[in-house]
Amino acid sequence: MNRLLLGLLLCLSFWSHTTLASLLAIDYGTDWIKASLMSPGVPFDVLLNRDSKRKIQSSVGWKKEDRLFGSDAFNIAGRYPTDTFSALKYLHGAPFDSPTVSFYTSLSTADLAKTSRGTVAARRSDGSEWSVEELIAMQLGYVRDLAESAVNGEKVTDVILTVPPYFTQHERDAVIDAVEIAGMRTLALVHDGSSVAINYAMTRTFSDVPEHHIIYDAGASAIRATIASFSSVDSKSKNAGTSINIAGVGFERQVGGNELDRRLREILIKDFARKHKQDVRSDKRALAKLWKEANRVKTILSANADAVASVESLTNDIDYRSKVTRAEFESACRDLTGRFAKPIFDALANADMTLDNITSVILTGGSSRTPMVQAAVTAAVGKARIAQNVNADEASVLGAALHGAGLSRQFKTKDIRLTDIGPYDIQVSYIAEAKNENSKPRTINTLVFPAGSKAGSRKTLTFKRKDDFNVKLTYRSPPVPGYPSDILEAEIKGIPEALKNLTDLGAVDPVVKATVVLSESGFVSVQDPVAFGEIKDDSLSGKLKGLFGGSGSSSEETTADKETLARSESSSVPSSSQEPSATPEKKPAKKDNTIPLELKINLASVPPMSVAEKRAARDRLIAIDRLEAAKHAREEARNSLEGYLYRVRDLLEDGASDSPFVKCSQEKERQAMQKKLQEGFAWLSEHGDDASTKDFIEQRSALEVMEKPIIHRYQEIEEFPKALNTSQMWNWSTRLFITEAKANLTASQDSDIPPRYTKEEIESLEKTLKEHERWMNEMVEKQKSVEMNEDPILESSVLREKVKPLETQLQKLLKKKAPRIPKKSGTASSTTAASSGTGGSKSGGGSSSPSSSSSSSSSSQGHDEL
Ligand SMILES: *[C@@H]1O[C@H](CO)[C@@H](O)[C@H](O)[C@H]1NC(C)=O
Ligand SMILES: *[C@@H]1O[C@H](CO)[C@@H](O)[C@H](O)[C@H]1NC(C)=O
Ligand SMILES: *[C@@H]1O[C@H](CO)[C@@H](O)[C@H](O)[C@H]1NC(C)=O
Ligand SMILES: *[C@@H]1O[C@H](CO)[C@@H](O)[C@H](O)[C@H]1NC(C)=O
Ligand SMILES: *[C@@H]1O[C@H](CO)[C@@H](O)[C@H](O)[C@H]1NC(C)=O
Repeated sequence: MNRLLLGLLLCLSFWSHTTLASLLAIDYGTDWIKASLMSPGVPFDVLLNRDSKRKIQSSVGWKKEDRLFGSDAFNIAGRYPTDTFSALKYLHGAPFDSPTVSFYTSLSTADLAKTSRGTVAARRSDGSEWSVEELIAMQLGYVRDLAESAVNGEKVTDVILTVPPYFTQHERDAVIDAVEIAGMRTLALVHDGSSVAINYAMTRTFSDVPEHHIIYDAGASAIRATIASFSSVDSKSKNAGTSINIAGVGFERQVGGNELDRRLREILIKDFARKHKQDVRSDKRALAKLWKEANRVKTILSANADAVASVESLTNDIDYRSKVTRAEFESACRDLTGRFAKPIFDALANADMTLDNITSVILTGGSSRTPMVQAAVTAAVGKARIAQNVNADEASVLGAALHGAGLSRQFKTKDIRLTDIGPYDIQVSYIAEAKNENSKPRTINTLVFPAGSKAGSRKTLTFKRKDDFNVKLTYRSPPVPGYPSDILEAEIKGIPEALKNLTDLGAVDPVVKATVVLSESGFVSVQDPVAFGEIKDDSLSGKLKGLFGGSGSSSEETTADKETLARSESSSVPSSSQEPSATPEKKPAKKDNTIPLELKINLASVPPMSVAEKRAARDRLIAIDRLEAAKHAREEARNSLEGYLYRVRDLLEDGASDSPFVKCSQEKERQAMQKKLQEGFAWLSEHGDDASTKDFIEQRSALEVMEKPIIHRYQEIEEFPKALNTSQMWNWSTRLFITEAKANLTASQDSDIPPRYTKEEIESLEKTLKEHERWMNEMVEKQKSVEMNEDPILESSVLREKVKPLETQLQKLLKKKAPRIPKKSGTASSTTAASSGTGGSKSGGGSSSPSSSSSSSSSSQGHDEL
């Protein structure tokens, strides 16, 4: 159960190696996925899908063999009702036999199956089964691919996801499993209401006095309310940050947009039965079509008093059309209205506040636009408190991205510190040792993290035990009807031996300690069990300490049970515990001693996927990704061959006699290509449907090989004069240089000043120049006789290569420092200018034309600019 912490550590070490990694935030909703990418150089915004839409429908489906995502998948539900999977968020970690799954079945046309872990899988029409984690992983992979194409194919592996605060540990496990199956890593989970609060704080400042707001989020599968208290940290300083403390949460699972859609669909089903004397419930296609239509009608009814539902050929070729009024719809939902606002009051009670403490109620979530939901909230909190000042769809994912950026410490963001809470009562339970032989063992339950406990806290428990025992972490009551209360069981082993060793060392009444953790991401776990004992310090200094220190300091530790757990007499906690201790550092005259104990975690009720299961699922997903990629590559190779054949046909048949292709090719070459082209077309029509990617590529290259020399010829017609010009320019400027250097040499000999260039240097350069000139004259002469439709004798690339030695030698001389001469006026700074000038032209490489410098070299400025 330490896996999140472990994941975080892995991530942290990862960050420190590659400094510029991206972070993907995903808000995986019941109806829509929103994502945002934090990446250096990428503007911070919501990630767009391939159609430039800002949200992606939470669906995956198959149209025969083709896997589809987003609305492409959602929209085929009417035709492929058991191959399209939506609203899977309900099923994260859901036990197959739970009411949640029955509810899901009442919405969806999917066929469900039970996994070996007792959770849910979907069965496709071809009989294959896919676990909910796998189906969600496919969608996360799809989002990852979008993100990677936004950063030009760079890998994106780290994600932060939003989860509703009401998600149980099993649901959170399922989210992380899906992320791993998708080949990514979870940096953290953040509650969706809290991430909206972060987004809200981004553009606002607060005072030292906390300001309380309710984030009211009406989603597709649930409604939740989060009370966030905003205040300023360090308000005096220039970099004042904001602290957000979550004070309370309330929620209603299963009351959300989907339930409204379901009620509306019921109206349509009943209406159809009345009009056509047929029950469409047995027709999955019809149910799926009506599901989509109900959602559309609901949206229209949000702005209109009535709407017309219309589905062509709903079932048995009957076109269905019917008017639905808002009044009719609202009356069908009357029993729900009390539940719309209930999360607000639950959150207030949880936070020990009243509405008077609340500055505003911020509406988010798609269903907050539904009039009856808004009316219920307005009636509950008063119109004046209602605020619609965040983006109802995007605030959560953007807040999550900012939170992730803050955690990763890689991006500079506003300092916003979030302290979240756990929404459920979590208790430790274990079997107490019998007091004597006659008494029965009893189960002790102790509340360790009551609902509202701070996320990210640790508590050290002390147990007076002599033998190995098990500690269970459980929800005090089932968090969701039909979901297990058990979270995990920790076996603590090796106690008798460790206690004996401590006693042998002189410890009196050693005890067992273990730490329970409620992590920032909402996971509870048991960590670091130790045997602990205090050993008398008999040394003189110990005795002195004992005299002045006193030993009655109070304990910060949680006592699980007065009867069986000893309250520790020392304020010191095992070294592994990071719980802050408020007691003063007055050490008693005792030495503490701890021996680590063995810990084994059992995940009995709804176990997360095992490593092997995840690996198998990952491999399965990779396999279909590969298959699809191969199919895609084959399509591309086929299209590319086809396109190429047509292009060559145009060159051969439609090319005018003065087209470059015709001018640079010979009759017999064109004939050979014509023949190969015809073979290519014939091959394509015969084998196009079953040939492999490799075959298509080979067919294309067989023809390409014939076209290549022709292309090369007309490229050379362009390139050769340019290369020749460059060579000539070097030739010309070298010659100028030599003339000038010779004159200077003579002049310096006359005036007895050491020359800048020696005779040898000048002669050696002249030799290189002459050789080059000889070679050029010869080759250029040969090239003259080559026809346009023949392969060139002298390639432009060779020409460019050949001038290099001359160029290098000249550059070297130009860089040479002028000899030290007695100070005279006028000639001072030319050498430094010369050296910096040549450095610049050198970086331009061999193709740089020395033309400008050579023209100025004739002036009195000499080669200063070269
Ligand atoms: C809520 O308001 C009451 C009454 O004004 C006040 O006494 C209380 O301290 C407030 N609670 C918080 C948490 O601000
Ligand atoms: C107890 O002491 C023995 C002897 O020193 C040692 O071998 C053993 O590992 C110790 N056991 C524990 C749990 O510390
Ligand atoms: C050679 O290069 C110079 C300078 O870039 C240019 O002015 C001239 O027209 C070129 N001559 C040819 C034949 O390309
Ligand atoms: C020749 O002498 C002049 C004047 O001192 C100087 O500017 C120029 O750079 C010299 N040229 C060569 C090639 O040495
Ligand atoms: C090199 O330059 C000299 C003098 O400018 C010229 O006579 C000669 O033809 C040139 N050689 C070539 C191959 O361009």
